[in-house]
Amino acid sequence: MAEYETFTHDVLVIGSGGAGLRAAIEASAAGVSVGMVCKCLLGKAHTVMAEGGIAAALANVDDRDNWQVHFADTMRGGQYVNNWRMAELHAKEAPARVRELEAWGAVFDRTEDGRILQRNFGGHKYPRLAHVGDRTGLEMIRTLQDTGVHRGIDVHMEICILTLLKDGNRIAGAFGYDRERGRFKLFRAKAIVLATGGIGKAYKITSNSWDCTGDGHALAYHAGAELIDMEFIQFHPTGMVWPPSVRGMLVTEGVRGEGGILTNNEGKRFMFDAIPDNYRAQTADNAEEGWRYCTGDKNARRPPELLTRDHVARCIVREIKEGRGTPHGGVYLDISWIKEKISNAEEHIKRKLPSMYHQFKALGDIDITKEPMEVGPTTHYIMGGVHVDPDTEMSRVPGLFAAGECAAGINGANRLGGNSLSDLLVFGKRAGEFAARYARDNSLGEVDNRQIDTAVAAALRPFEHETGENPYAVQRDLQELMQHNVGIVRNEQEMQTASEELRKLWDRAGHVGVIGNRDFNPGWHTALDLKSLLTISEAITKAAIERKESRGAQFREDLPNKDEKFSKVNTLVAKAADGSMQVRLEPLPEMPDYLKRVIEEMK
Ligand code: FUM
Repeated sequence: MAEYETFTHDVLVIGSGGAGLRAAIEASAAGVSVGMVCKCLLGKAHTVMAEGGIAAALANVDDRDNWQVHFADTMRGGQYVNNWRMAELHAKEAPARVRELEAWGAVFDRTEDGRILQRNFGGHKYPRLAHVGDRTGLEMIRTLQDTGVHRGIDVHMEICILTLLKDGNRIAGAFGYDRERGRFKLFRAKAIVLATGGIGKAYKITSNSWDCTGDGHALAYHAGAELIDMEFIQFHPTGMVWPPSVRGMLVTEGVRGEGGILTNNEGKRFMFDAIPDNYRAQTADNAEEGWRYCTGDKNARRPPELLTRDHVARCIVREIKEGRGTPHGGVYLDISWIKEKISNAEEHIKRKLPSMYHQFKALGDIDITKEPMEVGPTTHYIMGGVHVDPDTEMSRVPGLFAAGECAAGINGANRLGGNSLSDLLVFGKRAGEFAARYARDNSLGEVDNRQIDTAVAAALRPFEHETGENPYAVQRDLQELMQHNVGIVRNEQEMQTASEELRKLWDRAGHVGVIGNRDFNPGWHTALDLKSLLTISEAITKAAIERKESRGAQFREDLPNKDEKFSKVNTLVAKAADGSMQVRLEPLPEMPDYLKRVIEEMK
């Protein structure tokens, strides 16, 4: 029998970013006991890295905005394979969630008449991103954390969950270990909310933190939940490319929202050459009009740098591939040029983009008020995740809920910038509310000790292979493979190769060895992360092969066009009875007529 400590909560939230905190606050407000497990320290979740803002149709800067326009923008950005109900709830509820955050103490930037200021972002028709300079995620977490802690949530920090426990079909708890001393922990719970964020660490170049290893996706999958849309990985167009130690670090789209332009090594604004037909009417075809848009002229059209991320990222890749890149393999992003337009440009840039200024100064010795940045695409976000009910966020496993980046549906094939922070708030709240309701209506499930014994044996196995392969080598090879074979531009042959290589990596992961003991052992943690990383990499690869078309974030050079057959389906990944991973196409729910009319009117 393994030794472990036991904790019991009505609702257990796994993850302490925006979605997890918002879920915990809501569940606690409903009067149930709430535990929160975080892999990192409280306050360090990856949400703090979110920069540009929270998308919500507050209409503070442009009174033509409303939920219908936000809904239509989100659906178009997602190339219409979004779950319509999630997109509707999100657009309708985001303004209330932002105002609530303000009431809880978030200090937003202000319009001249004192309302929450909103900025332009790619794919949003009107200035829609409520922001705090370029540190919006940090302020969001600070506010939610203050609110949550005062509500009496029990926080378990630096805990890594190894497996979810079930009683028959339903959820009964979670089992994991503390990263500090390696002691095992059992969390019994009536309901669990997964809010573990993204998967960026499956790729070599990413804006994501060390802990974005797809744990929630993998835990849900192994517990019998379904994953959808896993092929849709968002490559943010602008990550740092230099110096190498920070390659991939996010350079907010807010830079382009404030007037930043993309140029190649010939000094050309290449985005003007690549405006897609369906965006032509709304996109400026000259620099002057683009600048007017960024300064709030309601009659001007958006600059082409603010087209959707999938498109901008591919245009950057094309420039680099065709030899028009920068010395370090990116393109130029220039905000300093606005000194031609405004007299106080330096002060303006530092006020609007303080983190960007410091990031480039401290890490790259670049003064962005005077010179351009070098940027290139970086793995940023996964649109795919746990398949949940759009209203309650419960997965197909009774009692298991998911919210935020580890859940899927709202974003379709491509997420608009800023929609993730609002997603965290809207669906975090809903998940917390319905998890609390589930917990009130159900008793604690029984825990099966055999499930725990299996988890313990698997967790300790790397210590039995002291001379086994180093887990970091497997992680590195996995990241290289996903970056090159299932990256921003894909084809069948490379993805089939990836599938074969993943089988070998699974085998290698089963034989990795670690030395030392369970105290402070990062090699061991890496060995244990491999299961999640490999599970999600396999799901991404299988889904990307199954979607035989290009749409949104999935670009297949062998199938460069959209295919009608795939216009109304999700890819769905599930574990078969024999333990193998199966993928199939699942029809999307039919959109009701009133929403079809909204989309038609917005066109
Ligand atoms: O560019 C950014 O600030 C990122 C925002 C987002 O991904 O929503």
